[in-house]
Amino acid sequence: MHRWDLLGLENTSASDIVWILDTAKSMSDIMTRDIKKVPTLRGKSVCTLFFEPSTRTRSSFELACKYLSADTLSFSTTTSSVRKGETLADTALNIQAMGIDAVVIRHQSSGAPHYLAQKLKCPVINAGDGMHEHPTQALLDMYTMREHGVNFEGAKVAIIGDIAHSRVARSNAWGLTKLGAHVVFCGPPTLIPPDADKLGAEVVADADEAVRDADVVYMLRLQLERQSGGLFPSVREYRELYGLNRRRLALAKRGALVMHPGPMNRGVEIESDVADGPQSVILEQVTGGVLVRMAVLFRALGGGNEWAGS
Ligand code: CP
Repeated sequence: MHRWDLLGLENTSASDIVWILDTAKSMSDIMTRDIKKVPTLRGKSVCTLFFEPSTRTRSSFELACKYLSADTLSFSTTTSSVRKGETLADTALNIQAMGIDAVVIRHQSSGAPHYLAQKLKCPVINAGDGMHEHPTQALLDMYTMREHGVNFEGAKVAIIGDIAHSRVARSNAWGLTKLGAHVVFCGPPTLIPPDADKLGAEVVADADEAVRDADVVYMLRLQLERQSGGLFPSVREYRELYGLNRRRLALAKRGALVMHPGPMNRGVEIESDVADGPQSVILEQVTGGVLVRMAVLFRALGGGNEWAGS
């Protein structure tokens, strides 16, 4: 029987990506109703297994479950037997033994969801694994772009910042290039991965050049904890060389979208007047996150059937 895991976009086809985006769109009216609940996944149980902090991803997966009437089990590493040394596999097998139908996992180690997918009978959804992939983030980003009329074929998407450590950048590169977009990576040379070309992205050193004529300017969080490793110049210099301000944004196409996965460092990678400005769709990304996660949960637990509405 086919398993509807979502482990990454590298191994997700363009048609599957479009199916998820279309399904998310068709579910969008659920969020505008007085009673935000449909019975689609009634009787199903989903465990959110987060080994790293999260505001957006965890909350939106849990809300997506509630809107589709699935029950949720929110697993916290700080209050579980992980603290006593229980392994990831044993933890997940015990949760499965309680009758869970799908597991959503965020883990600091790249490949943890793939490992669990081999151990568990139920579908596994990757909510971010180490520096590898964050597929639902890229899907919600693509959803938001599409909602704003971005035609992926030939669109220029500039992704700027700490690319090397960014699972968001990797998933976006896989997904966007599959749909025909031109992805440009820009950041300090120490924060550009050596395999950027394998991801199908063009590397541009100068941020003005990266932003010029872009349809989307996608800023990544500067992981300030990396400064002690000497991976980027001072925060002040980083802001000057790579930060998004009104002058730099004016180089992009008229009406270009400003995006950020959150959490933001205001005044570092993005100025507040841009983050809160008319071209910013950062909060719309968060709304799209609930819809995309509803579609991904429906795909995992609905056996790949078409969403017939409710
Ligand atoms: N974008 C994102 O993954 O945010 P959280 O870490 O808050 O889930």
